[in-house]
Amino acid sequence: MKVPDDVRADIPLTSSLIYFDNGATCLTPRPVVEAMNEYYLDYRANIHRGVHRLSRKASDKFDEARETVAQLLGASFEEIIFVKNTTEALNFVAMGLQWKKGDKIVVTELEHHSNFLPFFNLQNKGVILDVIPCNTDGSLNMDVAAEKIQGARLVTVTQISNILGYSLPLQEISSLAQEEGALLCVDAAQSVGHQEVNISDIGCNFLAFPGHKGIMGPTGIGVLYVGHELFSEFDPTLYGGGIITDVSLDSYSLTPPPARYEAGTPNISGVIGLGAAVEYVQAIGFSRIEAQEQALVKKTLSLFDEIPSLTWYGFPDNHSGVISFNISGKDPHEVAKILDESGNVMVRSGHHCAMPAIKKLGIEGAVRASYHCYNTLEEIDVMLDILKSLET
Ligand code: ALA
Repeated sequence: MKVPDDVRADIPLTSSLIYFDNGATCLTPRPVVEAMNEYYLDYRANIHRGVHRLSRKASDKFDEARETVAQLLGASFEEIIFVKNTTEALNFVAMGLQWKKGDKIVVTELEHHSNFLPFFNLQNKGVILDVIPCNTDGSLNMDVAAEKIQGARLVTVTQISNILGYSLPLQEISSLAQEEGALLCVDAAQSVGHQEVNISDIGCNFLAFPGHKGIMGPTGIGVLYVGHELFSEFDPTLYGGGIITDVSLDSYSLTPPPARYEAGTPNISGVIGLGAAVEYVQAIGFSRIEAQEQALVKKTLSLFDEIPSLTWYGFPDNHSGVISFNISGKDPHEVAKILDESGNVMVRSGHHCAMPAIKKLGIEGAVRASYHCYNTLEEIDVMLDILKSLET
């Protein structure tokens, strides 16, 4: 599959506007929409709850999608839990472990609120929350990381900052967590679909990602990887249909994972769409995706350097396709509105749901252009011309 042309041909919206808001949600290629339509129109039924042929077909397609996601991450079928989104996945991590007073959880100052607030709230149960700080440029202060991780029960970190496009030193953090016997949870919302992500390479116990971002799948579906080593100590958060082998008036027994963690009728079309999206992204290939995104980043940063009133955040040699910036004297929302109205360019603006990091950078918000492999170098020129025209 050729990048970007073949991918653009599958995404009608790319012909009418410039979509640089992939960090918030990506556009959806036709084969993904078709897979979901096929479910609704040709074999709509509930899964694992019927012996009739429609139910069997829907169940098979659902299970195939789980296997596809498992292979994507180098995980096993049982370790893939379908959830609504990354936020729900990370809340499940916070709620599914039994916490004791004095247990320590470590996060970084760069986290999205979804990987901060669920753990922040556990302080009500006597859990200690400790934060690895970042420096004023946003880089993680690894000098204090080892000290912070000492005695931790859980370390939960983002793989790529959704503001800076900065890949955190995940291997180093993983080694520190392992030395302490701490569990490691990874928020992979900005990495999965943009690069190869493998559970064994990272060495984590939990990993969360949404269907609707890098993988180009539908909204309303996400994944929580739960390592099999945790099956005996990680509880379901939701209880109800589909998760039991027996119920009587005074007891119940749970099914083995993954069903144990998925009470109620799931988002069947979402899972089938996610499976199709994973196959779609794999057919493009991560080396092509990364090469295109890196070309886009390189061009953007070099052109940004030519605009004196523009400040961009992050690091030239460690920058995924997420670039936040400000134009001096201009409100980020105002800049985003102008980009839309005068150039059909869609970007996100504001605090990007990571207020502690925004505050550390000494700003109130930023404009963010975030790319996928279907974006072109020519589209960057359109954005740059508008930004240049805003110079005072
Ligand atoms: N978490 C998404 C973002 O960074 C919505 O924009």
